[in-house]
Amino acid sequence: MKTVILWSSANTDGLTAAAKDTFLAGLHEQGIETEDIFLNGLTIRPCLACGNGFGQCLSDGSCVQEDDFAAVYKKLVEADGIVLVTAVYFHDLTEQFKLFIDRLRRCEALRDGDLKGKTCTLVACAGGSGNGAVECLNIMETTVRHMKMTPTDRISITRYNRDYMLPALRSSGARYAQFLTEGGND
Ligand SMILES: Cc1cc2nc3c(=O)[nH]c(=O)nc-3n(C[C@H](O)[C@H](O)[C@H](O)COP(=O)(O)O)c2cc1C
Repeated sequence: MKTVILWSSANTDGLTAAAKDTFLAGLHEQGIETEDIFLNGLTIRPCLACGNGFGQCLSDGSCVQEDDFAAVYKKLVEADGIVLVTAVYFHDLTEQFKLFIDRLRRCEALRDGDLKGKTCTLVACAGGSGNGAVECLNIMETTVRHMKMTPTDRISITRYNRDYMLPALRSSGARYAQFLTEGGND
């Protein structure tokens, strides 16, 4: 049973990293194997919208860009559980997360993709005003639903709720682990 946690922030030791580490602790306490993928440390190029707008993503569910995208995509396909954690920028996901998820959606949503039927947990970390956390989660949910994935939980963390939400994230991680162990994806 393996869960991949995909996360993005400009900071490796900020609120987003704390949220990711706390969720991971909840998974680990239930004995789940995890892999932590930091998108800002990878090379992810933008979608080229090749062809007339529908390129290789439509014909075979892959992308022509040669960078780290394909390796991460493969890990998601092989994973039992998926967790997406992003800092909130302008009420949206980070630029790096958007680059990745735009291409992922094309490879998945234009066909019955390999992520279809998988569950995921969504976490948005809005450490400024806290504004836009809900909009960011809404965008995340819309995007994963385009890929026919089902969110189990949608969590927003702000400066205001950090003290009580970080412990809740640990519980959410543990709950997701139990869900997966009980065959939640089936
Ligand atoms: C370009 C940019 C846009 C941001 N937009 C928002 C925002 O819309 N709402 C918010 O609450 N915080 C916003 N922030 C603050 C980030 O959410 C904040 O840095 C947050 O703590 C992210 O987690 P980090 O601690 O991992 O950086 C923004 C930060 C940057 C750099």
